[in-house]
Formats: sequence, structure tokens, C-alpha cells
Amino acid sequence: MSAIDWNALFTAAEAARQKAHAPYSRFQVGAALLHEDGQVSVGCNVENASYGLTVCAERNAIGALALAGGRLRAVAIVVDSREPTPPCGACRQVLAEFGSPSLPVSSRTTEGLRADWTLGELLPFAFTKAFF
Ligand code: THU
Repeated sequence: MSAIDWNALFTAAEAARQKAHAPYSRFQVGAALLHEDGQVSVGCNVENASYGLTVCAERNAIGALALAGGRLRAVAIVVDSREPTPPCGACRQVLAEFGSPSLPVSSRTTEGLRADWTLGELLPFAFTKAFF
């Protein structure tokens, strides 16, 4: 399997971030998901005047991955923040539906600071279909 092109993933995530609909928090997030077959799906956060209906960038990107019938190989997130931010708890659970505990999840700021985790580090003891 070829190496993960993180530069391409972060570039795709940044392009998605610029499309974010975040008029309430002003916190724009972009995500790019590398599928196991090499396809890339992207998402941005989409907020709503009814705040609780907001959907994160990662989960919006998962919709496109599901449409393609894909499995996750890598996750890249871009935020305009002081430090790289990990995916929220809800997104971790949704990522776990399509990726293994060894899935690399990396976050980068627009200034280029980067943090790297695995999904297993972010969500130990995940609840999955293996339990039923
Ligand atoms: N957000 C994401 O898009 N992904 C995350 O993992 C964390 C939070 C969005 C949701 C909301 O639009 C804004 O960031 C502030 O919480």
C-alpha cells in the first residue's frame, strides 16, 4: 500500500474548511478522509440557527465516504486555532464505525502546527458492532 500523502490531505481539508458554514461559533473546520481505495472525501462544519443541529466537518465527510462504500485509511483535520484540535466525542464514535483503532487521525492549524493520534488513542474501548 502506498504512503499516505498528508500534504494532499491537509490541502483538501483546508479547501473544505474555507467552505464552512460557521456564522455562530466562527470556528471553521475542514476534514479530509482518505479511503482505503485512495479516494478522498471532504467535509466542513455546517452550523444552524437551531444550534444543536450543527454537524461537524468530520461527520459531514463521513457521509461522502459512506456513499462511496469506503473504509477509512487516514483522517486529516484543519482548524484556524492556536493548537490542533482533535475530533469531538461524537465524531470519534462515527469514525470508529468506518475505521480501525490503528486509524491515523491528524490535525493541523492553518499556521502549520500538527498533532497526530490514532483513533484507538482518541476513543479507547469503543462501542462497535463486535459487541452484538
Ligand atoms: N467542530 C467540528 O466541525 N469538528 C470537531 O471535531 C469539533 C467541533 C465544529 C462544530 C461547530 O460548528 C464548531 O466546530 C464549534 O464547536
